[in-house]
Amino acid sequence: MTNYYLTTPIYYVNGKPHIGHAYTSILCDTFARFHRMLAEEVFYLTGTDEHGIKVQKAALSEGKTPQAFVDEIVPKFRELWTLLGVRYDYFIRTTDAEHKAGVQKTLSVLEAQGDIYKASYHGWYCTPCESFWTELQLKEGKCPDCGRAVERLEEENYFFKLSKYQGWLMDYIQTHPDFIRPDYRRNEILGFLREPLEDLCITRPKSRLSWGIEYPGSQDHVVYVWFDALLNYLTALGYPAEESKFKKYWPVDCHMLGKDILRQHAVYWPIMLRAMGVEIPKLVLAHGWWKIGGEKMSKSLGNIVDPVAIVKKYGSDAFRYFLMREVTLGLDGTYSEDLLKERYTSDLANDIGNLWHRTASMMEKYFGGKVPASSQGAEKTPLWQNVIGLWDKVCRDMLAYDPRESLAKIWTVVTQANQFVEEKKPWVLAKHEDQKQELADTLYVLAETVAHIGVLLQAFLPETSRKITSRLKLSDPFAIKDESAFRKPLVKAGTVIEKGDPLFPRLEDKIAPC
Ligand code: MSP
Repeated sequence: MTNYYLTTPIYYVNGKPHIGHAYTSILCDTFARFHRMLAEEVFYLTGTDEHGIKVQKAALSEGKTPQAFVDEIVPKFRELWTLLGVRYDYFIRTTDAEHKAGVQKTLSVLEAQGDIYKASYHGWYCTPCESFWTELQLKEGKCPDCGRAVERLEEENYFFKLSKYQGWLMDYIQTHPDFIRPDYRRNEILGFLREPLEDLCITRPKSRLSWGIEYPGSQDHVVYVWFDALLNYLTALGYPAEESKFKKYWPVDCHMLGKDILRQHAVYWPIMLRAMGVEIPKLVLAHGWWKIGGEKMSKSLGNIVDPVAIVKKYGSDAFRYFLMREVTLGLDGTYSEDLLKERYTSDLANDIGNLWHRTASMMEKYFGGKVPASSQGAEKTPLWQNVIGLWDKVCRDMLAYDPRESLAKIWTVVTQANQFVEEKKPWVLAKHEDQKQELADTLYVLAETVAHIGVLLQAFLPETSRKITSRLKLSDPFAIKDESAFRKPLVKAGTVIEKGDPLFPRLEDKIAPC
């Protein structure tokens, strides 16, 4: 059986989750569900990144210990994933004992083999960015990333020999064109690697930061948060202590992440793995940012939108649909509630909602709520042919990591189905006794169309998928283990269907904005 291992970044727990976090997790959930449809053994990993100065500061400002603080925030992430239908297989916390032990063991091995050394460091430090800068890198004496004040520091630290592996990494990226995607991000990394890489400072003195994993063999240092965090992708598989999951799932099929943390995943991480003698990930996939008024949505800018409020108002499937349909994976998107409303009304309430509603209503009206029996002719209609061919198209796009295009193809069929109703005019056919079979064929094709769409939507809109498939009394689409089923007829003539409530009720104008 094929395995498929996919990860989100582990989220910082210095505040509540927002749309940016939800986006990464929803994308991964969609791919995880899609690969489960291919009957692959999926391992979808997510979790929380709990150490570091940001968390230490946030805890301090609330008068809590860092541990008590993170223990309060972590459930908010888990609750949000439940609310959004995000079904992960494992949730790692970097405060887990197994993770800490894995990090310490890895560091001891790397130090013993000469890839880590201790040296005195002096330079300029930006606390909010947790970054060291040389005199030359400063911009007008300030941090070149955030423009804030920096302080002069001189301290002993441990360094990881990134520079030793620079040539190898450039060569690897050049000879593995699918390792970093999209292409334009790969080129950015290659551009970055044209400058000499500095060795990475992988500890912080405890006098400055106490909230972290203790560096093995030093009472005075904790591990730099990124070195600790990246290793989660391995420690979650039991590495290095217990090998079974690691053997089964590594190398990872896809690390999904935002473009802001590509360098850590496409430069530090492969070099760490190379030094450890572990295989390199198959794919590092960078998505863009959700912006508001041209600015990245982020806690530090104070412009975040709470996904819980959106879901309460529009439902989780509408939110998932918007995020995946609005932008091509890789590019930035603009979030606004008006755009979400537009998508909701046109694509969800008017297109798919209406298609279900009219199909179910006509089966009730003309066939006593049953799926009618069709003649041979039904399968010759162009709509039917498109429906049967849809799965292969969706597969092609999803395997190319393009969920937006998959949804667009599904919606093309939804639109065709609504046009089919207009063309066939079942209400006219129903008036003529000699057109009874054509009426039956029309509704049968429509039922089959909605069934296929309902089943395919399980990767994208799980709640809607459940509603459609249960109302049509199909066997549980989430339990289908043979993908060839998606190319065959799904509904049975004579099935008593349930119309149910509207899939996407019309929005009332009086609802206040989130
Ligand atoms: N803790 C690190 C990741 C360590 S992984 C070994 C981190 N955490 S984060 O909470 O700041 O961000 C997690 C993810 O959320 C990243 O993929 C990031 O790109 C994504 N987003 C945060 N804000 C975002 C937007 N406004 N838009 C889209 N995604 C963004 O970085």
